[in-house]
Amino acid sequence: MQRNSGQASIRFQLFRLVLAVSAIALAFSVIGGALLEWKLQYQQIRQSLATTARAAGMAASAAIAFHDKKAAGEALHILAAQKEIEVAAVYPLEGYRLASYGDDADLPDTIGSLSEHLPSFALWSPSTTLFIPILLDGATIGHIYLRASLHDYHRIYLEQAFLAISTNLLGLILAIGFGLRFIRHIVKPINDLAHTARQVRESKDFSLRATPPEAGAPNNEITELLDSFNAMLTEIELREQMLTNYQSSLERRVLERTEDLHSANRDLLVAKESAEAATQAKSRFLAAASHDLRQPIQAINLFNEALNRTALSNEQKSISNFLGQSIRNLGELFDALLDISKLDAGANIPRPEMISVHTLFSGIDSEFSALASAKSLRFKLHFPFNGMTLVTDGKLLQRLLRNLVGNAIKYTTQGGVMVAIRRRGDEALIQVIDTGIGIAPQHVKTIFEEYFQVGNPERDKSKGLGLGLAITKRLASLLNTKIVCRSDLGKGSVFEFRLPLAHT
Ligand SMILES: Nc1ncnc2c1ncn2[C@@H]1O[C@H](COP(=O)(O)OP(=O)(O)O)[C@@H](O)[C@H]1O
Ligand SMILES: [Mg+2]
Repeated sequence: MQRNSGQASIRFQLFRLVLAVSAIALAFSVIGGALLEWKLQYQQIRQSLATTARAAGMAASAAIAFHDKKAAGEALHILAAQKEIEVAAVYPLEGYRLASYGDDADLPDTIGSLSEHLPSFALWSPSTTLFIPILLDGATIGHIYLRASLHDYHRIYLEQAFLAISTNLLGLILAIGFGLRFIRHIVKPINDLAHTARQVRESKDFSLRATPPEAGAPNNEITELLDSFNAMLTEIELREQMLTNYQSSLERRVLERTEDLHSANRDLLVAKESAEAATQAKSRFLAAASHDLRQPIQAINLFNEALNRTALSNEQKSISNFLGQSIRNLGELFDALLDISKLDAGANIPRPEMISVHTLFSGIDSEFSALASAKSLRFKLHFPFNGMTLVTDGKLLQRLLRNLVGNAIKYTTQGGVMVAIRRRGDEALIQVIDTGIGIAPQHVKTIFEEYFQVGNPERDKSKGLGLGLAITKRLASLLNTKIVCRSDLGKGSVFEFRLPLAHT
């Protein structure tokens, strides 16, 4: 909040205080002095008037004693030396006026009526009067009356008053000047402090400092305030610095960590790539080896068949039959291994083409309908009446479907198997549905792993190899799709996936 710096400023308030104090003090001193002076001077005038009157009385005393009017008049004439004396008169004890000086027109002739001419004390009256006894050898022989003008006295008094007031005013001005200097002395550090505080607040620059008290300046609350304020700023600045340091070290640490993570990531990537390369190399090796291994196996099979056609004893015939079965199992195993190795080695590059559902299904039908009817199962193919065209690699899709349909027939003992294709937007949903033994929920995911078979812990090769679905999963990923399995244990299973439809 910004306070207005004019009227309410501490400088202005102090100035008003100094002014008020000096003015009141001077006013009282002037008035008091004036009154006292007035009183003193008035008394002085009265005293000097009394001396003059006594001198005149003395000069006239002989004339009074002899009631000599003329001599008394001459005696009073010495008063002419004092201009301020307007009127004078002497009265012997008998009470009549013996002689007078000055303008005696309004002077009474007897003492009796003189009393009303005697003064009551009045400062501003234009004249003052005096009435005192005349003594001769200690005895009163008459009275003298004097009236003196106060005109000169007033003039001198006013001159003096004027002088006094001017001196006092000068004093006042000096006092104010001194006061202002003093105020500046007090106010400057406070102003400085306020200014610095405002600057700090506005600029948030904590390195600023209020001007420190001058060397040798007296220690008071203001210097203490300045010192504390500056100390406070130092503290804040230090903390600010600490915070900045902490922040930058934090940033540095984050950067270091990020760099560590990046390099760890790079290492991981390198490790992953080399692992993938190793797997591919292994798969390529296996593919090559399987291919080479199959030729001797085929040869053994041919020799065994040839042997079987010769004349053999019953025992020899049965041995040859077992041998034939083992050779077929081995061949199947090599076929599956070869398949997986080729798929893992990336040897199969999908070549999408237009595949009509008719073509696809006639292949499936001719291959599996006999197998199904041999197990007394219904075998059904379901597809839209006007046909459908898929965009995919036909050979890979055939292999995939063959695996799924083969399993469906293999794991179904009653009911049937259906292969269905339905339109779902611009995709085809392909399903292989059976009413077979089903799969327990905990196995639904694991059946796609290599060598996993639900009901063959003894790994009897005649019950299959457990590689079919592992191959199927790879085929699906080559075709850019994913097989989803839903199953009800004891009721049947559905295996389904989606493929893009051709735009018609
Ligand atoms: N249609 C299905 N109905 C029930 N179980 C199935 C079905 N298809 C696959 N399975 C289960 O999944 C396992 C793995 O299948 P697969 O990889 O083809 O191996 P294999 O058929 O050689 O046993 C099978 O052993 C079987 O337990
Ligand atoms: Mg199988």
